[in-house]
Amino acid sequence: MILTSIWNLIYIIQRSLFYNNHGYKYMHRNVRQQNNISINYFESMDQFEETYRTFLHSFLKNYLSISNSRNISLNYCPPIPPDLRGPLTVNEVPIDFSLRMNSSYHHDVKFGGYYQPKTCVARHKVAIIVPYRDRREILRHFLFHTHQILQRQQLDYRIYVCEQAFNKTFNKGIVMNSCFKEILKFQPDTPCFIMHDVDLLLIDDRNMYTCPTFPRHLSVAIDKFRFYLPYTSLVGGVLGMKYFPDKRGFSVFYLAMRREHYLLVNGYSTEYWGWGGEDDDMYARIISKELKVERPPASIARYKMLKHTHQKLNPARMKFLRTAQTRINSDGVNNVKYHLLSTSFYHLYTHFLIDVGEAPK
Ligand code: UDP
Ligand code: BGC
Ligand code: MN
Repeated sequence: MILTSIWNLIYIIQRSLFYNNHGYKYMHRNVRQQNNISINYFESMDQFEETYRTFLHSFLKNYLSISNSRNISLNYCPPIPPDLRGPLTVNEVPIDFSLRMNSSYHHDVKFGGYYQPKTCVARHKVAIIVPYRDRREILRHFLFHTHQILQRQQLDYRIYVCEQAFNKTFNKGIVMNSCFKEILKFQPDTPCFIMHDVDLLLIDDRNMYTCPTFPRHLSVAIDKFRFYLPYTSLVGGVLGMKYFPDKRGFSVFYLAMRREHYLLVNGYSTEYWGWGGEDDDMYARIISKELKVERPPASIARYKMLKHTHQKLNPARMKFLRTAQTRINSDGVNNVKYHLLSTSFYHLYTHFLIDVGEAPK
């Protein structure tokens, strides 16, 4: 503990001296690009960050294994969580709820957005991956709403907000794959991943965020699509996956996926810049590896979509979709290129800030 405190103290001092208010190191990368003189200086900061991160990860891992063993005398949680409420209404976010401070509405959530039931041993350990960039109010609403549900589901879970740095074209595939890799470094025993768009709020807590045998498409009925699944080959997110677009329209997918299945399909393609296609590509991968997609009944897999600005449509998406199956092994989590700019822990989430590079010109 003493060693930890010393490390934390050094870290806080160096962050407050060298980082901007948000703790974002990428600001310094900008400086570095503009001013070669500062290169060595900031390279050494990178090493410091790396060492600190390794240390922190191993500390947290040890801490977590201690807290797991604390539960040895407890029984498993019941197969059907007793506190589920069924259909939910979406409440406004209280003004005093802030992402930077400890939330008085989420007492039991531990630092880093981690939770473990107190009275029983969770049957499911899951990582929630939230791809993110520049939708602060939506993120605030998502975290306020979703934590309360996941606790009632009696999961052992952690919410990871995976933020694409810089204001450039979004690449969800790279964000997902890099986040998946970082989670496995941090918590190598994570068996189940829920890929979750930030703008979808679950409105029935019986839709369990767990990984069954096959990938599971969780967002079957979304208010934006009048709670109607446009076509059955859609799969998608809480891993959003679906097959090639249908003339009738589309749907958004959420997908829950076991770690070994994510690796089997080689994660997401990294070729889709801007809006559209990456989830269709994922569906093509799943089918090509002869996996099935499970889906809970539409009566409970219900979501409200929060309003947001729209990304620029990617005109190249159909070109890549046509070759989706041929690129599975050469384009994905096995060769994703990115730079992890920072790892931060807030009360309600663990934050990875990721530089995904730029779309080819
Ligand atoms: N996203 C984001 N900021 C962006 C673009 C995308 O946070 O600028 C994330 C966010 O989680 C969002 C998801 O990527 O829910 C899917 O993108 P978007 O909502 O634009 O597409 P839709 O699924 O609504 O068609
Ligand atoms: C896009 C997908 C999207 C879906 C639903 C499709 O046309 O290719 O990426 O998820 O529409 O909006
Ligand atoms: Mn959206």
